[in-house]
Amino acid sequence: GYGLNDAAKAAGKLWFGTAADIPGTNELEDFYYMQEFNNTHDFGEATPGNIMKFMFIEPEQGVFDFTGAQQFIDLAHATDKYVRCHNLIWKSELPTWVTDPAVPWTNETLSAVVYEHVYNVVTHFGDQCYSWDVVNEALADSPAGSYDNSSIFYDVIGPAYVVDAFQAATDAVKNNSLSVKLYYNDYNIEFPGAKSIAAQNIVSELKARNIQIDGVGLESHFIVGETPSQASQTTNMQAFTALGVDVAVTELDVRLPLPPTAADETQQVADYYSTVAACVAVKGCVGVTVWDFDDNYSWIPSTFAGQGYGDLFLQPGGSNTPLVKKAAYDGCLEALTGA
Ligand code: G3I
Repeated sequence: GYGLNDAAKAAGKLWFGTAADIPGTNELEDFYYMQEFNNTHDFGEATPGNIMKFMFIEPEQGVFDFTGAQQFIDLAHATDKYVRCHNLIWKSELPTWVTDPAVPWTNETLSAVVYEHVYNVVTHFGDQCYSWDVVNEALADSPAGSYDNSSIFYDVIGPAYVVDAFQAATDAVKNNSLSVKLYYNDYNIEFPGAKSIAAQNIVSELKARNIQIDGVGLESHFIVGETPSQASQTTNMQAFTALGVDVAVTELDVRLPLPPTAADETQQVADYYSTVAACVAVKGCVGVTVWDFDDNYSWIPSTFAGQGYGDLFLQPGGSNTPLVKKAAYDGCLEALTGA
């Protein structure tokens, strides 16, 4: 029946989508999970949770392994989904040949690594990707608006690594006449403040240098009751779109302390609603993607002890048993239909 993706399209968006951690995790073997992933009424976009990260795609310098990533794309395309390819340059999930402290990287040699990785991967997948998250999470929470200095790329190259990465992606797009869109993706930039302004500055700087940037991904990993208001999210999205880029909600989930209380569950519905409604209200917000849709496979409990219940579906019987829609699902649907 009529679902989230149907409603998102009717609202003028490109998709309602989801991340999935495929291949290599149990999701692929879960009949009920895959049945919902393949439900085009709900999901018109897919983002790979892990398989396109640097350590999987270039496990040895200059040796590229595109197999798992291609498997993901083929699976998504089999149900006509857009794919937001994720991600090219991030401080995490790096192969040891990059992070090995014994390697004496210099600005010149590590910049070349960034360029080669980005150029080759963007070129390889071409327009199979709707977009690439070219740089992921370059900014710090504290002091808000500064660069994250725990990234090896920042450590060796400085902030210029962000420019280098987008330059490489821009060159790949131009040389291959691609239409793939280039995004900067981060968290805690979903509301006005120093970190959001720093992300806006990245957009402005790239544009000033004539380097391609098409959009900013607002991750939106929220905490129940602390989700920024709809108005604050709308204002923030408009600050980005005023610079001539799109925005997308790229990794939405709303975590809460376990076990869930009725009050928290009600608040969670409101938090999902305000986020989805903000995207509906802003013309340049192209779509909403949840960071997986089934609590059974959520990243939250293993990262935040005692928290979870962040997704739109439950699997009360565990893996390979039927999924149950949560109230948060209806909150999203109402935000999309304007009910
Ligand atoms: O697959 C192995 C499994 O075989 C092994 O037994 C297990 C033991 O630790 O690890 C499994 O791999 C884990 C993988 O997720 C698959 O579930 C990795 O350890 C774990 O580090 C990895 O975490 C991912 C994390 O990014 C780091 O890359 C999460 O799934 C993924 O949801 C998360 O996604 C990030 C976005 O890329 C960027 N924004 C934040 C978001 C949430 O942290």
